[in-house]
Amino acid sequence: MVERLRIAAIGDLHCGKESSGVIARALAGVSEAADVLLLCGDLTDYGTLEEAKILAREVAGIRIPILGVLGNHDFESDKAEEVTSILADAGVRILDGGTFMHRDVGFAGIKGFCGGFGRGTLGHWGEPVLKRFVQEAIDEELKLETALARLHMVPTRVVLMHYSPVRATVIGEPEEIHAFLGCSRLEEPLARNAVAAVFHGHAHRGTPEGKTHARGTPVYNVAWPLTRRLAPERPAYRVIEIDVVPPEEDVPVASLAH
Ligand SMILES: [Fe+2]
Ligand SMILES: [Fe+2]
Repeated sequence: MVERLRIAAIGDLHCGKESSGVIARALAGVSEAADVLLLCGDLTDYGTLEEAKILAREVAGIRIPILGVLGNHDFESDKAEEVTSILADAGVRILDGGTFMHRDVGFAGIKGFCGGFGRGTLGHWGEPVLKRFVQEAIDEELKLETALARLHMVPTRVVLMHYSPVRATVIGEPEEIHAFLGCSRLEEPLARNAVAAVFHGHAHRGTPEGKTHARGTPVYNVAWPLTRRLAPERPAYRVIEIDVVPPEEDVPVASLAH
């Protein structure tokens, strides 16, 4: 029988002073509905320690593993490290090019960055400040490439990020800001590596589902403002079930000695 893993995902909680009780209510039932919870960035509104502590309390009752990535809002107060450690103490593993294994599924997480899509992708050319801007997207792409390489023996892999790797899931946002919502550079590791699903946030007015160009990998925009607007009667988080391919058994050393 094929094993299945239920993945709950939500982005853009934007936890602030008014969020006490609100986020816990939005995430109610997730421990029963899913096997793992992904938080796709913009966990806090201004990236303050106070907001991080509120969020830590809001997720305290969740009994399944929680993985997260930071979003642009989590950097606003220049306290990203402290925010990460407050959340880590509450059991939220923040991935920044890191990986995590749960029930034979490998997870890789990055923040990602912007820079535009397809032919409009901003090039690494011109003024030094522009090159530094583009370099951030290249660095995030490399973090994902490395994380997926680390999981190369794991057949079933899932990626979470904050920015979008494809244009399809930002459609619905004003076209003038598409370039600030994600970057095709983030899709390149997803073209070279088979992945079961990709989850992101950031595009509050985007489109809930799309696919990568190279492999047709499903991409889910799980920004809370989007799911809340499109399906107010449904849970705040999306639950996606994936098939889990068990990793191949290690080849016994004895069988190699001939
Ligand atoms: Fe956001
Ligand atoms: Fe964002």
